[in-house]
Amino acid sequence: MKPWAGRFEKDTAGPVEEFTASIAFDTRLYQEDIAGSIAHARALAACGAISSEEGDALAVGLREVQRDIEAGAATFSTSDEDVHTAVERLLAEKVGDLAKKLHTGRSRNDQVALDTRLYVRREAGHLAGLIDDLRGALVDVAEANADVIMPGYTHMQHAQPVLLAHHLLAHFEMLTRDAERLADAARRANVSPLGSGALAGTAYAVDREAVARELGCCGITRNSIDAVSDRDFVMEILASIAITMVHLSRLAEEIVLWASQEFGFVELDDAFATGSSMMPQKKNPDVAELVRGKVGRVVGDLVAVLTVMKGLPLAYNRDMQEDKESLFDAVDTVASCLQVMAPMVRTMKVNAKAMREAAGKGFTTATDVADYLVRKGIPFREAHAAVGRLVLKCVQEGKGFGDLTLDEWKAIAPGVSQDVLNVVSVEASLEARAVPGGTAPARVREAIAAARAMLGRRSGG
Ligand code: ARG
Repeated sequence: MKPWAGRFEKDTAGPVEEFTASIAFDTRLYQEDIAGSIAHARALAACGAISSEEGDALAVGLREVQRDIEAGAATFSTSDEDVHTAVERLLAEKVGDLAKKLHTGRSRNDQVALDTRLYVRREAGHLAGLIDDLRGALVDVAEANADVIMPGYTHMQHAQPVLLAHHLLAHFEMLTRDAERLADAARRANVSPLGSGALAGTAYAVDREAVARELGCCGITRNSIDAVSDRDFVMEILASIAITMVHLSRLAEEIVLWASQEFGFVELDDAFATGSSMMPQKKNPDVAELVRGKVGRVVGDLVAVLTVMKGLPLAYNRDMQEDKESLFDAVDTVASCLQVMAPMVRTMKVNAKAMREAAGKGFTTATDVADYLVRKGIPFREAHAAVGRLVLKCVQEGKGFGDLTLDEWKAIAPGVSQDVLNVVSVEASLEARAVPGGTAPARVREAIAAARAMLGRRSGG
């Protein structure tokens, strides 16, 4: 029997029941739904809407329902419509007619808003933990390869040498902000809408603050219409997840490139690569490719919810039920990506020799030569042009900086002497970049230690 059957003369048509039901996907909110219902039952008892014995019996029955669901002993059907009605039906099987009092002063509109908020809070914490695992993997690889030098790129062209650790810590920084964004989204989601009723506020004198405290929320929503209309907490976590996915895909793309024959910078562990059904020699970075590919669906999830919400009049509209599959899909997808990325990164073998060789190619210390000329009193623009001409000459003659004679060096500008050879090395170029945030080995060692300390603080609570 539908909770709203009184007004109706006919049963819902079968296809309509199927079409409108969310039970196929919203049962994952059962914990939140039951926690909210227990808090609501207590609040009803506290304000005298039901007796305290009834409040206690409802709470006991709801806990039994939770145990049954967790033991797989509860069954759901399409006629339940959604998780809220299903829990109430299962409760009636435990406490009989008393279950009919639970929905006093409550609507599924404030109920679903609460459940979804609590779910966002829970998953934001879970995802931040998974992000931390990947951050930890990046720091581990950075530390184990602290002196490995690679070419830094701009426009995918060799630019300046950097430490591999410095490059990996760039990804660490992005993921740090991702975790912060999730925490921020969770903080804003963590307020209780219970007591807002269908839209106008409940007519029972429930202590909304006490309900919020019981649920671990940091406050209550201030406006009952907003409370049942707002889904920006869903859009916010989806946006945070989408940004995280974009970051994961950039890391994944680099792993794909680095594992290629052209780069040969890393070799993936066999457990994190796949083969070809036809070509026996292949070892493919499918995991990284899938991570890169899954961004598509997560960005789609965000866009789906933004589009559902756009133009909806206040207050609750059934359109909003469409928020859940997108939310759940994005959470599941980013979680699975993080779970495979962390061990894949941690186990990949770094080819220090290939990276070091590449770092010296492509005149990556040309800026250092220009800086040397600046120290000899030549304005930077002129220095830049002089070194540019030298590079052109080298390209035309098929030479690298290392092949030039001292006379050829001296020819580029007045004042050049033997000591120019001290600045053209890749190692000297790194050492020179000792500003905070730069790639000088001492700075990067500090950055690794700081990253470790940051992770320690987080896992230490
Ligand atoms: N399944 C619904 C949702 O996800 C719950 C709220 C239904 N409320 C209503 N008045 N029909 O949004």
